[in-house]
Amino acid sequence: MDSLKECPDSITSSLLSWFYDHRRILPWRTERTPYTTWISEAMLQQTRVTTVLDYYPRFLERFPDPKALADASEDLVLKTWEGLGYYSRARNLMRGAKYVCENFGGEIPSDTDLLITIPGIGPYMAGAIASLAFDKPSPAVDGNCIRIYCRLHALPLIPSDSSTYKEINARVQKDISEDAPGDFNEALMDLGSLICTPKSPKCTACPLKEKCSAFLLGKQEDFPVRKPKKETPVEEHTILKIHIGDKILVRKRPSTGLLAGLYELIDLPGTMTNKQVRMWLKKNFPALSGAKDDIDIRPMGKSRHIFSHLRWEMLGYEIYLPVTDTKKQKDLSTCASRLGEPVPPDEYNDLAFASALRAYR
Ligand code: ADE
Repeated sequence: MDSLKECPDSITSSLLSWFYDHRRILPWRTERTPYTTWISEAMLQQTRVTTVLDYYPRFLERFPDPKALADASEDLVLKTWEGLGYYSRARNLMRGAKYVCENFGGEIPSDTDLLITIPGIGPYMAGAIASLAFDKPSPAVDGNCIRIYCRLHALPLIPSDSSTYKEINARVQKDISEDAPGDFNEALMDLGSLICTPKSPKCTACPLKEKCSAFLLGKQEDFPVRKPKKETPVEEHTILKIHIGDKILVRKRPSTGLLAGLYELIDLPGTMTNKQVRMWLKKNFPALSGAKDDIDIRPMGKSRHIFSHLRWEMLGYEIYLPVTDTKKQKDLSTCASRLGEPVPPDEYNDLAFASALRAYR
């Protein structure tokens, strides 16, 4: 059944021989286990390889197997993930690790039907783990793979349509090498990163150029079809870094939703002027009402953070509340405890912070 795939001129053979000459040497490719594949694939979703290179060894050192991850504190996992973004991936890994310990005795299963039952593991990741770690001929279809196949066969498909995934999955299933399915999937990943890039693909260097319908039509950048972009919603925030004596006021975000479970500074809706901030402080810190109290408010400027679906426009202020004596410090801390938690600098530095607030941290 594999005779067509084995033909030296087939997509499968051309892609594999290119891969063996040009593949990237990456840490998760050298010593591979099902667990390391899972961790690296979770990190690599929506994050560049160069960024993951730093995080991958540190994460594995702290959490070397599913049991260590399942037993870890969420704060430590989020702290280790800090800066990688899309924190739901870290939380899903923890949930997944607990599930693997409870249902599979801590061993990651090899079957895609079982892999997909693990929280946080979807069809792409199940295919990647099954093929890379267990040599199963399972497609791992992501955006790169969709782009390559849409160009290869000049398919006018929209990547986010669910029918597109099914169509490409079926085509990859036909081409995937039975002998080296993991290499085949990684060859697609490398081709998508190095050659068949979204913009300005390097078609002349492509091992599939003679078979690529889009290239032969001179229309490689017209595939896949782009969906008209919707305007990204914008939210305005005022960020307050409030010092109370030697402590800084922080709070933990709710356990669900955007940046769930991460720490942040005081974050107020809208863009507030210096005067509005002063009024807000007087209202929320009644202990400041003494006539001589002078609040030191220093503008920290504007900052922007772009999430996948939302943009934050922020304006920051650094605030030093006047702590004249220990009673004052106590009164201010009581007011502060209604807003968050004042923490000393060493504890502050150890908290898993929302990277959206990096500019003000
Ligand atoms: N992107 C997603 N998975 C990858 C892998 N295993 N190697 C390189 N890039 C990737």
